[in-house]
Amino acid sequence: MDHRVLSRLAAPAVAALLALTTGCTGETVQGRPGASGVRDPFFPKAGNGGYQVEHYSLDLDYDPADGQLHATAVITARAEQGLSSFNLDLSGLEVEGVSVQGEGARFNRTGNELTVRPAEDLERGEVFRTEVDYSGRPKAVTDPDGSEEGWIVTPGGKGAVGVGEPVGSMAWFPGNHHPSDKATYDITVTVPRGYEAVSNGELRSRTEEGDGRTAFAWHSAEPMASYLATVAVGKFEVTTGRTASGIPVYTAVSPGEAAASEPVLARLPEMVEWGIGRFGPYPFSATGAIVLPAHSLGYALETQTRPVFPGAPGSEELVLHELAHQWFGDSVSPKSWKDMWLNEGFATYAEWLWSEDHGGPSAQQHFDAYVAGDTRVDGEAGSDWGAFPPAAPRNPKEISASPVYGRGAMVLQRVRQEVGDAKFFALVRGWAADHRHGNASTADFTAYAEEKTGRDLTEVWDVWLYGKDRPKAPKAPKDAK
Ligand code: ARG
Ligand code: ZN
Repeated sequence: MDHRVLSRLAAPAVAALLALTTGCTGETVQGRPGASGVRDPFFPKAGNGGYQVEHYSLDLDYDPADGQLHATAVITARAEQGLSSFNLDLSGLEVEGVSVQGEGARFNRTGNELTVRPAEDLERGEVFRTEVDYSGRPKAVTDPDGSEEGWIVTPGGKGAVGVGEPVGSMAWFPGNHHPSDKATYDITVTVPRGYEAVSNGELRSRTEEGDGRTAFAWHSAEPMASYLATVAVGKFEVTTGRTASGIPVYTAVSPGEAAASEPVLARLPEMVEWGIGRFGPYPFSATGAIVLPAHSLGYALETQTRPVFPGAPGSEELVLHELAHQWFGDSVSPKSWKDMWLNEGFATYAEWLWSEDHGGPSAQQHFDAYVAGDTRVDGEAGSDWGAFPPAAPRNPKEISASPVYGRGAMVLQRVRQEVGDAKFFALVRGWAADHRHGNASTADFTAYAEEKTGRDLTEVWDVWLYGKDRPKAPKAPKDAK
């Protein structure tokens, strides 16, 4: 604001201008409660309104012997409105104390909402620090589709893993748990000596504490959606290295899974370089993998920089799939859980492309195998891909169902058929670059695709992306590979 201009304005105009810039109307800051959710179509209570987190600093002390967590979360956020109170999502656990800007704050809990009432209202635009001290035995969260995330004790009971898709992160730290709020992270995990603690990003330090415990300090320099945060505690064989272009690799493998994991994980550095060639610059400053004891989870997850596998990865394609999510899902994150096909359709398409580029069936052959029947190109049951349109799962049970994956990938192949290879790959790279470290919706994608390729793709969207009926065989592709 230019003060020379201000001084020439009449007093009421100045007051109005100040109200506009500070978001308040009187002398005292008038806050109002932040919303208890961001109205996600499937998880309306996920996330919270009125602020955006900039940084999480989590200090987790975990003992696998009794499953107890003692933790402090310091959350730096920016208020987007005047706030008299705001919410964090937290499931289970006991909150011992909350402070905001160093002052004790009142708080109460209802369901998975932790409501914090700071001693003083927060002003719009203010950056504020909230500290939450909490403890207890974190639990698993069961999804609408019956799968489990949150805090999972691994088989044998000698370790645990925190995973968050879609709403499991609230089981192990308080936060704004919706993908539309991305932040940087420092996650420090202290465990008994002999255990490893692995998380996202780079390992900044590993410190032997005097009391027979080891502290692992992990740093995520790039923004991360909270569902992609992870912590794995257990006995792991750690391997470090670099990809050809210098990206640090850190893999942690459960000893019982080491032999079976070795051949597929050995190809990870090459996959990263392949991804860079196909999708553009790798979005993060680290890569790697976490292989848990067998049967730890019912799925693998693309946790940022370091995907989690529930036992030795069963195939190269699975490792490639989780790696591809680093561009599609982790760097370009969905605006809502309804946009999940933007994650899974791209990651599945990446598997097809990897196959095409390595002497296997082409993406078109994968597409044809789906069209021909409900089988994948490898002959395995490919699922009922036609059951519903990928951009319109009907309920939260369906966000990880097969049409989101297979038919999502088919949408991309249909676009490729329409626009040809040059425009298609420019579109894929442009999409990753334009929304790097951000969020995007299905509408953002369709608009971008048409703008970037200069083509009207209405038919592809209407039939393949949104059409309720299982699409019939497409018209003969022009120059499809
Ligand atoms: N996003 C994971 C993948 O495709 C699958 C996770 C499915 N399970 C879940 N609870 N969200 O690699
Ligand atoms: Zn996936």
